Amino acid sequence: MTQSEIEKIRKDFPILQEKIYGKPLVYLDNAATTQKPNIVINTISEFYQKYNSNVHRGAHFLSNFTTEALEKSRTTVQKFINADSVEEIIFTRGTTESINLVSYSFGELLQENNEIIISEMEHHSNFVPWQLLAERKKCHLKLIHFNDKGILDTEELYNLITDKTKLVAITAISNVLGTVNPIKEIITKIRKKNRNTYILIDGAQLVAHSKTDVKDLDCDFLAFSAHKLYGPTGIGILYGKKEILKKMPPFQSGGEMISSVSFEKTNFNILPYKFEAGTPNYIDAIAFAKAIEYVNIIGPDKIHKYENSLLEYATEKIKTIEDLKIFGTSPKKSGVLSFNCGKIHHGDIGTLLDKMGIAIRTGTHCAEPIMQHFDITGTARVSFSFYNTFEEIDIFINALKKAVEMLK
Ligand code: ALA
Repeated sequence: MTQSEIEKIRKDFPILQEKIYGKPLVYLDNAATTQKPNIVINTISEFYQKYNSNVHRGAHFLSNFTTEALEKSRTTVQKFINADSVEEIIFTRGTTESINLVSYSFGELLQENNEIIISEMEHHSNFVPWQLLAERKKCHLKLIHFNDKGILDTEELYNLITDKTKLVAITAISNVLGTVNPIKEIITKIRKKNRNTYILIDGAQLVAHSKTDVKDLDCDFLAFSAHKLYGPTGIGILYGKKEILKKMPPFQSGGEMISSVSFEKTNFNILPYKFEAGTPNYIDAIAFAKAIEYVNIIGPDKIHKYENSLLEYATEKIKTIEDLKIFGTSPKKSGVLSFNCGKIHHGDIGTLLDKMGIAIRTGTHCAEPIMQHFDITGTARVSFSFYNTFEEIDIFINALKKAVEMLK
């Protein structure tokens, strides 16, 4: 992307024009959440101002209008991840709820002594639900490890799969290490070992940073959030293959997920509504589709290439700082750089950078098993988006050098 393209893009994001403590905001916490372009903010405002109404329920113009917009958004998401059908696109509150839906609903189909495999690299959203499910259904939870570069031990994974393995739940990209896991290869190999093992991909960090094609991947489930893809918070997606979604019982119950209700019996709605109990967060779903359209206009390939060049540049620069250790040095990484500087506490680095207008994340990044692997209390983490610039990385590196000097 050219300098002038970036400048133009930055103007679409009002928060990037703001100052923090009187200094221009340098926002490097994109793995936590991305900023929102005007088209997303304005869509939310426009729908509340002009069209607010309940979807799938009204006999009036407004309800028909919003229902149509919501369903059009579902199609936008379907096309974005190349799913076969809109029946496979379920709106949830985000990655966490999507994974919980699978753990509670698909989990009902598991038997005692079935096995679930997760990795040491998961954030808590793709870790704790499986611990709870294993406990509930008396299943075995198995763990695969990664090496000190942050590369997953895929051989260990294939060796762990038995005829009792019902689910492998794995992240596509680590939110701490930045590792891009070879999920397509992993899925192919799992299928060769056991055709009856289902595969859930945690796509929280994937969808904004890599072209996502569920048909090509052949995953059974994909979970992701809108807010990490320039959309609103509180809305996300569970993609699931139709055949398995049909077999799964409802997750939550109430309105919308039913086709008929009587005292004797309730019949459930067709897909995807069977999994969408209650009034949906339809305005955020519509705004999410606008975020996807925005990203599509810039071009995902162009975005990913540019973000990788930011990562490469930042990695080279940060390495020049004395005593700095990077966590996650896999050759295949996506826009995340986690680090510690000698004995300096990551929290202190974050606080000093904040005072200089630079927003980063520090701590465990909701991924304590990764911290346990390295025997550390946390890291400082910068994460990039296509609206970041090389100049911002220079500002960050200079600020980090200053902070390290002050804290030494
Ligand atoms: N999982 C999010 C992060 O990495 C919240 O910051």
